[in-house]
Order: sequence, then structure tokens, then C-alpha cells
Amino acid sequence: MSRLSITAYVVGIVCFIVSCSFAVFYGYKVVTHQLPTEEKELNNDRYHFVLIPEELDNDYWRLVEEGARAAAKKYDVLLEYTGPRQANFDDHLKTIEMSAAAKVDGIMTQGLSDEQFSPLINRIVEKGIPVITVDTDAANSKRLAYIGTDNYYSGFLAGKALIADTNGQANVAIITGSFNKNHQRQRVQGFKDAIQSEKGIRIVAIEESQISRVRAFEKAYQILQEHPEVTAFFGTSALDGIGVAEVVEKFNKQKRIYIIGFDLLKETQKYIRKGTIQATVVQEPFEMGYRAVKMMIELREGKKVPSIIHTATRILRKNDLPPYMNNIKGVR
Ligand code: BGC
Repeated sequence: MSRLSITAYVVGIVCFIVSCSFAVFYGYKVVTHQLPTEEKELNNDRYHFVLIPEELDNDYWRLVEEGARAAAKKYDVLLEYTGPRQANFDDHLKTIEMSAAAKVDGIMTQGLSDEQFSPLINRIVEKGIPVITVDTDAANSKRLAYIGTDNYYSGFLAGKALIADTNGQANVAIITGSFNKNHQRQRVQGFKDAIQSEKGIRIVAIEESQISRVRAFEKAYQILQEHPEVTAFFGTSALDGIGVAEVVEKFNKQKRIYIIGFDLLKETQKYIRKGTIQATVVQEPFEMGYRAVKMMIELREGKKVPSIIHTATRILRKNDLPPYMNNIKGVR
């Protein structure tokens, strides 16, 4: 055999071995091929639930979502989190309607108003899709359960805290997320009832923020212009107190203004630490999300669940803050 043919022979064998190895390797890959995670989850998941908040990218709602996702992961549920980019009744209702049309196994959402939300919730429940209200109840609807803050009581707590912190002397302005949403109305009502018999406390203005921080800022600014006698603010939704604090820091250097807000987002705690916000009403958004998913599973399994579960609500002031915020569960 010539040298050339020996070389060709060896090269041929090497090529043959290499192609055999590729064939074995890729053959193995095809046989043991894993489906994309999404599909895999769909196959394993027992239920498909949807959580629909009034505003998708609101940090408060992201905490509710975190809780719901933790439970969904633990109990093999496919959880969809969807809703309006910015708070809007029509978009919210449309999303609920579309989820029902997609025949999901359960809908968790707010019962924002009896007029608009209850008829839709009733229709969906009558069709056999369970609905749980979270954070805000439509108590007269056919929703199967509510989990969230006692919104009236939380407003009442805020009123009592304001009385204690101002020694019963204050001209109060309220910035509320909305005049027509159940939770906001109940918080304002609770607050009013708490201060009702206090001679030294007057409500001098009340404005709507549409749960927008920028709007809360604008309204607080406007109030300070029109009502220089204001000495205290109550913000009834998560971004209201933050909007007010920004205005007070920027434009109110002389007078001391008391602020009580809602929730414990990172920015709220920053303002509490600085002393711009004196107190906040803390809710349990993570727990609401987690327990809502658990309750929905129980409903699907035919178990009985309580029709109302109120999660904890408390007042937090600067002294209640631990040195590092990361230590507090459910802060975003
Ligand atoms: C309320 C939520 C609301 C959020 C708005 C919270 O205090 O519980 O329902 O969407 O504020 O920022």
C-alpha cells in the first residue's frame, strides 16, 4: 500500500468515528429532549388561575403577585398576572371578562365597585368559575370569598393614629385613590368616624389621586396653595403619602406638616426614616396573594373556605422600623 493510500485510509476511519460519535450524541439528545419550561409547567399544573389587579406595575400589587407566585409554585398552579397598565375601570373589567371567556379555573381580583364589578362577578360565578376578591371586597356580589384588609378598620386606625400624633389638633387634607372605589371609600369613612368626636380636628379638603403618585403630588400642591391652614395629610392608597411627602419636602420649608400614608413601599420607609412621613398603615399584600391562591385551590377541591378573611393591619412609625429594611418581609 502506498503512503498516500494509508493516509487516506486513516483519515477515512477518523471521519467515520467522528460522525458516529455525533450521531450517538444527537440521537441521545433527541430521545431525552426536554420540553420548554412553559409547556412542561402547563402539563404538570393542576389549575390555571389568574390574578387581576387594578394596576399591573404598582409596587404594592407586585407584592401581592409575589405571594401568589410563591403559592402557585408550591402547589403546582399556573398563575397568570394581568390587568390594566394604569388604573382604569373599563380595562380592568375587560380583563376579568376575557379571563372568564378563556375558561380559567379561578379568578382573583378586586371588587372595586358594587355597580360595575358585582354584576360581572355574579355572571362569572354563575357560569361555574370561582371568583375570590383580594384587597378590596364587593361584599354584596356572589364572589366566593374575600381575603384582604378590613378597609374600614384600617381607615379608623389611621384616624386614631393621627389624633394621638397631633394631640388632637389638626386641619386635615385627604388624598384618596378614588371617590368611587370600595376600599378607598371605606378607608375615608373609617378615618372620618375615628376623628368625628375630636373637636380639634377638621377635614378641610379631600381630593382624588386616581392612585397615581404624580396626581397625588399635584393635588397636595394645589391643596397647600388653596388651604394654607392645612397641618396634616392622610393618603389613603400606596402612592398618595409618597406624592404628598415630595411636595412637603420641596415646597414647605417653614411649617411642620404631619403625614400619615398607606403601605410600606421602599419609598414610604425612606420618607418615614427622614421624618417627612410620620406614620403609615401597613397591610399584608404578600400574604393576601399567597392565601388567595391556597383558598382558590381549596374551592376547586370542593372544600369550604371562610367567606371573609381579614389580613392584619397595623400602624407603623419611625421607631418601629428595623435598622435595615431588607429584614422586613414583603417590602418592595
Ligand atoms: C391598595 C391597593 C391600591 C394601591 C394603589 C393600596 O393601598 O390597597 O388596592 O391598588 O394602594 O397604590
